[in-house]
Amino acid sequence: MRIIIIGPPGSGKGSQAKRLVNKLGIPHISSGDMLRETVDRGTPLGTKAKSYMEQGALVPDDLVIDMIMERISETDCQNGFLLDGFPRTLPQAEALDHALADSNVNIEHVPLIEVPDAEIIIRITGRRIDPETRKIYHINFNPPPDDILPRLIQRDDDREKTVKNRLEKYHEQTELIIPFYKKRGLLRKISGIGTLEEVEKRLLEVLGFIQK
Ligand code: AP5
Ligand code: MG
Repeated sequence: MRIIIIGPPGSGKGSQAKRLVNKLGIPHISSGDMLRETVDRGTPLGTKAKSYMEQGALVPDDLVIDMIMERISETDCQNGFLLDGFPRTLPQAEALDHALADSNVNIEHVPLIEVPDAEIIIRITGRRIDPETRKIYHINFNPPPDDILPRLIQRDDDREKTVKNRLEKYHEQTELIIPFYKKRGLLRKISGIGTLEEVEKRLLEVLGFIQK
């Protein structure tokens, strides 16, 4: 199964993707996680991506497209994948379409998690990540166990001003891909409000795994 999970920053894409891939047995491909890894490793791509990410701007299309095309051509993606954070612009959606058409495969589902901007700020500023397991926590909504508290980190781009820029980019550029997938009959909007379990249930419903 090939799935693209769309939603504003902080809507729960990463949290839900991790839960879904455990059930579906397909790789979770997060463009943001991959880019942060290149920054940490100091690769040439990481050096180029760093300043855009710090400001909450989008990394140029050609860099991200090459990175993702390479990743989805790996053997573990042959039977499917879940994309999180890509595509984020129309040129990225078109590049993905061309690459998949060349391999005679299609995207089957594009769930869109909707969360209002005011809630996004609360979610992102309270997010904490466990660098060892990559698990995503929230200080109030998904509190981490006490024993791992000292090692938790906050993402560099999770400051309120940067979050506002990321939200602006989402509304200006990423929302343009919504009609692209709607026209193909793939888009399914779900509410991202509620517990992690409630949102996961809505996702499993639109993916056809459970009945409403
Ligand atoms: P990326 O890493 O993709 O960030 P993002 O889209 O801004 O999304 P987030 O990871 O912030 O949020 P999420 O939806 O995954 O939410 P999460 O599950 O963590 O991209 C980062 C940067 O990389 C971009 O700004 C850009 O510079 C660059 N980039 C990446 N891809 C690119 C591309 N394709 N093109 C160009 N540039 C690109 O949840 C958030 C918080 O909410 C957590 O604390 C969580 O515990 C909590 N939470 C989750 N669900 C719930 C719930 N139901 N109730 C309460 N709290 C919840
Ligand atoms: Mg994420």
